[in-house]
Amino acid sequence: MPSGRERNQLLASDRPVHDWYRFVLSFPPHLVRDYVERFGLDAGATILDPFCGTGTTLVEARKLGVASVGIEALPMSAFAAATKLDWSPQGDALRRDADTIAERAHARLERDGGRDEPGAAAPSPLLTLPPEQQRLLLHNSISPLPLHKALVLRNAIEQSGSAHPAHLRLALARELPTTIGNLRFGPEVGLGAKKEDIAAIFAWHNRMQVFARDLDDLREIGDAPASVVQADARDVAASVPERSIDCVITSPPYPNEKDYTRAVRLESVILGLLADNNELRAIKRGLLRSNSRGVYKGDDDDAWVAAHPEVQALAAQIEQTRLELGKTSGFERMYHRVAALYFGGMARHFASLRRVLKPGAQLAYVVGDQASYLRVMIRTADLLAGIAERLGYEVVGKDLFRTRAATATRSELNEEVLLLRWRDCEPSLPTPHRCPSYTRDQHGMQRSQRREAAPP
Ligand SMILES: C[S@@+](CC[C@H](N)C(=O)[O-])C[C@H]1O[C@@H](n2cnc3c(N)ncnc32)[C@H](O)[C@@H]1O
Repeated sequence: MPSGRERNQLLASDRPVHDWYRFVLSFPPHLVRDYVERFGLDAGATILDPFCGTGTTLVEARKLGVASVGIEALPMSAFAAATKLDWSPQGDALRRDADTIAERAHARLERDGGRDEPGAAAPSPLLTLPPEQQRLLLHNSISPLPLHKALVLRNAIEQSGSAHPAHLRLALARELPTTIGNLRFGPEVGLGAKKEDIAAIFAWHNRMQVFARDLDDLREIGDAPASVVQADARDVAASVPERSIDCVITSPPYPNEKDYTRAVRLESVILGLLADNNELRAIKRGLLRSNSRGVYKGDDDDAWVAAHPEVQALAAQIEQTRLELGKTSGFERMYHRVAALYFGGMARHFASLRRVLKPGAQLAYVVGDQASYLRVMIRTADLLAGIAERLGYEVVGKDLFRTRAATATRSELNEEVLLLRWRDCEPSLPTPHRCPSYTRDQHGMQRSQRREAAPP
C-alpha cells in the first residue's frame, strides 16, 4: 500500500476512467486493489459497493476483471458511475461527435456576437436557467457568460443525436464546477475566484480527447459485468439479488455535516438531473442522514439503535454539550438527532445487507472519526463495529487508512477500514426474498421498484 501523501492521491497510472469524474475525497483505486487481493477474490466473485458515489470500487473491479454492483442514491453520482462503466464507445466515434458538437457550439456563440475566448465580446442575449433551477445553485457558483457557454454546449450535445450522449454529458459535468464555474473543493465545496469568462467549449473538447484516449487504451481489458442502481442502500436487499455478493468494499457517508447534494449541485442542475426544490427534497430523503440540513419530520432510522447504549450515550453527550455551550440554532439542536439517525440508518443498511451476502462474505467499510458536532469525538468505525456485531457480523479488525487534521479541534482524526465477515448465523432472517425488478428512467439509469419497509 502506498504511504504518506500518496494514500490520498490518484496515482497517474490510475487516472484512466477514474479521473473522468470523481469526488475530491473519494478513496483511491489502490485501496480497492489492496482489499481485492487480501480477500483473495477470484474471477467468479461479485463485489458490492452500496454507497458507490462516482464508482471508484466498480471501475477498479472492472479493471481487475471482477464483477461488481453499485448502489448510489444521488442521481448525478449514479449517472457518473454508470457512464464510467460503459466502455463501449470507440474513441474515434467520440472524437468525431466532439468535433461536430464543438463546431456547432462555436457557430451558435458567433451567431450571437460572441467567441469562446476570454476577453472577446459577449454574445447577446445570454441563455439562462429557469428560475426554479437557478434558485438551486449556490450563489455565484457560475458567472453569466460561462453559464451561457455551458448551456450552448449542453444544447448542442442534446441535439447532436450522438450514440454516446452520456460520455459527452459527463465530460461537461467534469468541467463545470471548477473550470467553467467558480467552485473549489477544500474538501468542502466553496466559492473560488469568480471567472467572468472562460473558454468552456475548448475545455470540454480537451476533456473529450482524454475520454476517447482512455477508451482506446481500455480495449484490451476484459468486460467483467458491472452495474449501478440508483437506490437507497439502507434498503439494499430491494436492489440486489439474495446471496449474490462475495465482498463489499465501500465508503458510506460519515456523520460530518457534509451535504453531498451541494457538492454536485451545479452539474446536476445544468445536466437536468435536478429540476426544482421538490426533487432536491426527494433526493435528500433517500440519503443516509449525515447532516442537520437533511433531517425530516417522520425520520425514524434512530429506532434501529434505540437499544444501543454506545450510540445513545453519544447522542446524549452531544446534546449535553450543546446545552452547556448555550448553542440554540435550529441546526445545533438537531446534532444529537443526526448522530442517532446516522447510526440507525447504518444499522438498517447492515440488517438489509445480510440477505444479499453469501456465507463467508468479506466486507471493508472505509469510515472516518468525526468531531463536527460541537467537538464531541465520534469514533465511527468502533460504533459501526458494535452495531454490525449485534446484527450477526463477525468483526475481523480495523486498518488505519489515513489521518486527517480536524478543522474544529486541530487534532488528528483517523480514517479507518472496518473489516467484517458475514457468518450467516442469523436464524431470524425473513424469507423468501424475491429478486428485485428494475425500470430505467429517462437518463437510462436503473431504478429498483421495490422498497423494504421492515421495522427494526
Ligand atoms: C463517501 S461517498 C462514496 C465515494 C465513493 N467511494 C466514490 O468513489 O466516489 C458516499 C456516497 O454515499 C451516497 N449515499 C448517501 N446516502 C445513501 C443511501 N442511502 N444510499 C445510497 N447511497 C447513498 C452519497 O451520495 C455519496 O455518493
